[in-house]
Amino acid sequence: MTTETAELVRQHLIDPEICIRCNTCQEMCPIGAIEHDSNNYVVKFEVCNWCNDCIGPCPTGAIDNYRNVTRDRPYSLEEQYGWGALPAQVDLAPGEGAEADLPADVARMTSIATAGQGGPGSPPWSAAHPYVNLFAPSRPATATITGNYRLTAADASADIRHIVLDFGQTTFPVLEGQSIGILPPGTDEHGKPHAMRLYSVASPRNGERPGYNNLALTVKRVTEDYDGQPVVGVCSNYLCDLDKGAKVQVCGPYGTSFLMPNHPNSSIMMICTGTGSAPMRAMTERRRRRMALNEGGQLMLFFGARTPDELPYCGPLGRLPKALIDVNFAFSRVPGSVKQYVQDKIRERHEEVFRLLQDGNCYIYICGLKGMENGVVEAFRDICRQHGGDWEKLKPELLAQARLHIETY
Ligand code: FAD
Ligand code: A2P
Repeated sequence: MTTETAELVRQHLIDPEICIRCNTCQEMCPIGAIEHDSNNYVVKFEVCNWCNDCIGPCPTGAIDNYRNVTRDRPYSLEEQYGWGALPAQVDLAPGEGAEADLPADVARMTSIATAGQGGPGSPPWSAAHPYVNLFAPSRPATATITGNYRLTAADASADIRHIVLDFGQTTFPVLEGQSIGILPPGTDEHGKPHAMRLYSVASPRNGERPGYNNLALTVKRVTEDYDGQPVVGVCSNYLCDLDKGAKVQVCGPYGTSFLMPNHPNSSIMMICTGTGSAPMRAMTERRRRRMALNEGGQLMLFFGARTPDELPYCGPLGRLPKALIDVNFAFSRVPGSVKQYVQDKIRERHEEVFRLLQDGNCYIYICGLKGMENGVVEAFRDICRQHGGDWEKLKPELLAQARLHIETY
């Protein structure tokens, strides 16, 4: 290698085609290496130090993209802001760094980012290997709606639906805890095709109906924005209004870390509100179908809703065998009853919760309202204190062992 050979480096980039602009990466980045405009999220080449804090939490994996470039010619922010898709990897000619080795630390971090290294952002060690990104927005799969049922009572304020998609002969393998992308038809106010929206898979890996190439979603019709103002959510209303036989464009699958453990004697603590129940239903149903195998471990669920009528899957969950799952509902708006949130129920069950927090075979999943996250963490902190433990010490251990998984939206 001559001294004139430009140094070859890996540049961390975000795939604008599958990025859902949820801001998670920017929130997670501890050093301000990620920013955005109204079009794209971008990574500052000079600032990114490959800490990888952004990789695991990204729901689509859009953040987990790289190109080899020469150090003196990385893609600029201006270029990244203008992209509709990632550029192809350019073949670097001799003299442009093609023969150069990646600096050892960068190569290591890159392989970590793409292959997973254990620790934060990793799945449980016994998770099955997920397929991701089989279908991009530019070449989506087509699924057929084979079911669309209202889960909440007819007079409930929320219209939450169980929607079944059939993939026919198309290969679309999913695991419990993964999400899929739905492309609503039509264009936004700028005349651009509507952006993809993510929905968690609510059925187990072997199909909503065992052995069928189908999956289920739990979709809430968005009729109010976060400030309570009336709004017609583009994709949720599109999905909730679909009739049987309708075709829908699907991307993904997405998600490499919010996956269930598969080893015997592994336990799962699930904490959710509203449609955050979708992955919990998938994991529970997976375990229910395997009950006869007596693989051990336990399931504990904390599920928050306004009233029983507003709680998706209330009836079926209540009918599950006690030997399979320990169900704890928290209702916040039942007339004449004390308002309860999931964190209140968690506190009530402190002894069992502390035992499971300490159990190296128990994996914890939190999904649903963003606001719930802090409340649940506070409850864990209090319970640890109550039992002579230390949450500040335990939390990094849970993350390092891939035992704590949070997906809020
Ligand atoms: P938009 O047209 O995008 O939004 C309309 C307005 O409503 C905007 O002002 C927006 O800020 C506001 N808004 C958006 N979402 C909500 C909301 N939930 N509550 C109140 N106001 C809102 N949704 C499900 O129903 N089921 C799921 O299983 C599910 N899984 C998800 C998994 C992941 C990883 C993520 C990131 C999101 C998930 N979502 C799920 C949310 C989903 O992707 C959409 O954001 C949601 O359906 C709203 O999309 P929309 O097109 O209807 O609304
Ligand atoms: P609330 O009655 O205060 O809205 P939603 O129906 O809006 O999807 O919410 C599901 C459940 O989550 C409701 O019972 C709601 O109670 C509750 N909830 C709202 N905020 C929080 C929070 N910060 N922590 C835990 N649960 C919450």
